[in-house]
Amino acid sequence: MPTVLSGVQPSGRLHLGNYFGALAQHVALQHEPGEHFYFIADYHALTTSQGAAELRERVHDVALSYLALGLDPAKAMLFRQSDVPEVTELTWLLACVTGMGLLERAHSYKDKLAHGIKPSVGLFTYPVLMAADILAYDSDQVPVGKDQVQHVEMAQDMAGYFNGQYGPVFKRPEARIPSAASLAKVPGLDGEKMSKSYGNTIWIFESGKELKKRIGAIVTDSRPPEEPKDPDALVPMQLLALFLPPEELAQWQERIRAGGAGAPGYGHMKQRLHEAIETRFAPARAERDKLVQHPDHVERVLQGGAAVARARARATRDRALAACGLR
Ligand code: ADP
Ligand code: TRP
Repeated sequence: MPTVLSGVQPSGRLHLGNYFGALAQHVALQHEPGEHFYFIADYHALTTSQGAAELRERVHDVALSYLALGLDPAKAMLFRQSDVPEVTELTWLLACVTGMGLLERAHSYKDKLAHGIKPSVGLFTYPVLMAADILAYDSDQVPVGKDQVQHVEMAQDMAGYFNGQYGPVFKRPEARIPSAASLAKVPGLDGEKMSKSYGNTIWIFESGKELKKRIGAIVTDSRPPEEPKDPDALVPMQLLALFLPPEELAQWQERIRAGGAGAPGYGHMKQRLHEAIETRFAPARAERDKLVQHPDHVERVLQGGAAVARARARATRDRALAACGLR
């Protein structure tokens, strides 16, 4: 039975990009045979500093989101990364077999530098901590968005360096990316990749007036509905494509391509998007409202997940320490 593992950073309110790119997959995968580990990457969150209270709040919010979206603690372990401190020990062991050159090639690190972020040593070694996360649980499959695939490949490299030097300790993991091309990149309100750093997000649990306001801000142009258009180039349609059943989507696309009197305008698309989001997440919003009243329950779930995860990570850590002569 494969071990499936993934993590999400608690770096802000989770948005539709996070949902389609990560959480939806995680929640769906729990029904497959295998052992499932999902964690909240709070150590990683320290690479972009935030206050203690804010970090605690965000970690709790990610836990609430997973549970509200249907992650079942009987099927999948949900835990906080920092409740398994063994991963930091493994991080050191892996750091000592990893060349600077590998980390210097990391796209996400280079992007952050290009955006003017002053790098800490922690940010530079982010992929080593991530490799430790993956290798600690003998993970076979790591479901991630495209942007994280390089990090998984680095974990493969690091496992290889360590095993090459000290013998077979770590299992080689494989990235698992969502199959539908539409899941590769969810556009934000401005048409760029939806990302909390760009302020162009729609929160998963948004509804009512707030949601309407966000959807109202999606970019459109002044072309009239009658003008034939490429539906795939329209941001409201790109978002609608994530929600509509295929037949309904095909009808919308057909009418937009054809133009003329029967073609929908942007207002119409946005109204349908509003309904679709309200409907899709109604059960999750209700569940979240319930869970908010029971922080102790959420904490118990995290502790239960951590106990199982930690036992696994300890065994790997012990193997790794023994292999390199520290035991
Ligand atoms: P952000 O870009 O808001 O900072 P993160 O980098 O924390 O989001 O991403 C967390 C997870 O969500 C990753 O697995 C990533 O692949 C996925 N993700 C984030 N934004 C998008 C998007 N716009 N489209 C698809 N997946 C996304
Ligand atoms: N870096 C991942 C992200 O930003 C989060 C993460 C941390 C992760 N450790 C991981 C994902 C291990 C998969 C496996 O989305």
